[in-house]
Amino acid sequence: MAEFLTGMKRTKMCGLFSAEEVGLEVTAMGFVAKYRNLGSIVFVDLRDRTGIIQLAFSSEIDKCSFEKAQTVRNEFVLAVKGTVSKRSANNVNIRITTGEIEILVTELRIISEAETPPFNITEESNVNEAMRLRFRYLDLRRAYLQKLIILRDKICLATHNYLSDKGFLNIETPFLGKSTPEGARDYLVPSRVNLGTFYALPQSPQIYKQLLMISGFDRYYQIARCFRDEDLRANRQPEFTQIDIEMSYVDDITDVMDIAEGLIRYIFKESIGLDLPPQFKKIEYQEAMERFGSDKPDTRFSLELENISEVLVDTGFPPFEESQKKDSSIRAINIKGGADYSRKDIDKLSAVAREYGAKGVFSIAFKKEGISSSLLKYLDQIVLDKLKNRLNIQEGDLLIIVADKNKTVFDSLGAIRLYLGKTLGLIDEQSYDVLWVTNFPLYEYDEKEDRLAAMHHPFTSPLNEDLVYLESDPLRVRAKAYDLVINGQEAGGGSIRIHSKDIQKKMFEIIGLSQEDIMHKFGFFVDAFKYGVPPHGGLAFGLDRLVMLLGKTDNIKDVIAFPKNQSAQCLMSDAPSTLDVRQLKEIFPDGKVFND
Ligand code: AMO
Repeated sequence: MAEFLTGMKRTKMCGLFSAEEVGLEVTAMGFVAKYRNLGSIVFVDLRDRTGIIQLAFSSEIDKCSFEKAQTVRNEFVLAVKGTVSKRSANNVNIRITTGEIEILVTELRIISEAETPPFNITEESNVNEAMRLRFRYLDLRRAYLQKLIILRDKICLATHNYLSDKGFLNIETPFLGKSTPEGARDYLVPSRVNLGTFYALPQSPQIYKQLLMISGFDRYYQIARCFRDEDLRANRQPEFTQIDIEMSYVDDITDVMDIAEGLIRYIFKESIGLDLPPQFKKIEYQEAMERFGSDKPDTRFSLELENISEVLVDTGFPPFEESQKKDSSIRAINIKGGADYSRKDIDKLSAVAREYGAKGVFSIAFKKEGISSSLLKYLDQIVLDKLKNRLNIQEGDLLIIVADKNKTVFDSLGAIRLYLGKTLGLIDEQSYDVLWVTNFPLYEYDEKEDRLAAMHHPFTSPLNEDLVYLESDPLRVRAKAYDLVINGQEAGGGSIRIHSKDIQKKMFEIIGLSQEDIMHKFGFFVDAFKYGVPPHGGLAFGLDRLVMLLGKTDNIKDVIAFPKNQSAQCLMSDAPSTLDVRQLKEIFPDGKVFND
């Protein structure tokens, strides 16, 4: 029978007891992490989110508690009264903060019994992820996950403190709204009251935060939930959280970047005590692509890409000749000391390149005994010398080459670079590498739809000096957009927005939206631009990704209390699930889903 706390008040949480309380009568509460029955004495490790305190029961201290303690099992919830005592020297546990003391229990109440859990709640237990997600509330009892959830709380608190101090107002925006243009699929919610119509859950508060600037709130922030129906990866969830920021009367990108930088520095200091450099590094998009093959470069190691189109284009090798075409090139990575890579090692690099659309890689090994390469007959001494000079090649090096459209070359060599960085152990996992990537292109070409698309989103302002190319050469136009990259991950991104209704209209037209589309999708937004718009800009950080980076985990599920699996399911509650007929009929009364 479960007992009640009646009258019992916790002195403090388990992990917070210390030798200072020796001799005092205290009350403690928590879960049973472990019990050991040694005959004349029973030891119980009592656990809460702050740690563990050892309880000792014996008939000499209190017969009734001792007898009850015999029935205690793992995960029972207990409340005890007793006296804090120093442990005998051979019982001291230096691995826990309360390891010098224990509570000699004079009163035990079993508040809740527990069935044997489906897995042992310890750090070491090797249980598959599906099982852990199904019993998430038990897995969350683990100190590892608790630490990350507590870190998340610290980061949120630091965010509120910093932004409030800088004059930002915390304002909530709706979940039930209209589709927002972040480029993923929407999660849709049918309306019962307005049959046949749907709300879209926000992919971000983008439109609302801009409207708040038009309303005159001047500085807004929100720790906002966002919903995107997209393919999931290790750092993506269908519902995730942003630290979302917008501010008025900004023009230059640094106006927003300075605030964002200050926030990130403050978060690092407050949550893990780390001082980041007073100025973050900055790199332009084009340079990031050319040097690292990525718009989120991990610059904790070098292994940079080199453009060798000029050297190889006239060798007569057909795939290289192709690189003369527009937007194509031949680029390489020089792996120092890689000349003895096996066929298998090089095949692995080819496989990585193929994942990113390349046909494979070409290699040239500069071995002691001579050059080894399938391209040998196309390489004369002049070409080899040029390569050596250009890339500072020494004996023992291996050149990995990709020739293709620029996008494919960058993506595949960028991926090879990362693969090598990890497998060759070139990355100092303990360090933090923080940098801004700026001057993104305003548009990208969407091959599937054969049209231009906004690279960030369609409210992003072009660079003033590129406005002249907006109609004549839109792919040349750069944006007032910036991403913050930490250890090769996009931690956040934003832009200065368009505040002129004419440029906004042009932007919509260039991405192929008809006047009708514009009015249907963004009519209310376009209308708002008629009534006075302060120049504004902002950005959003991925909160989950920040917690991952600061908590040093690669798995986004570790930092979300109740995450979804790779198929966007919650294995614990079994969502998404079918609806009962009564609920369905309320939304689709005639049983029809389509108006055909
Ligand atoms: P963006 O789409 O770049 O910008 O998103 C901002 C940041 O949110 C994080 N993020 C995600 N995190 C987890 N799971 C996901 N599925 C996911 N998608 C994005 C990333 C990313 O950098 N409205 C704009 C911001 C602005 O312009 O102010 C926006 O949403 O860390």
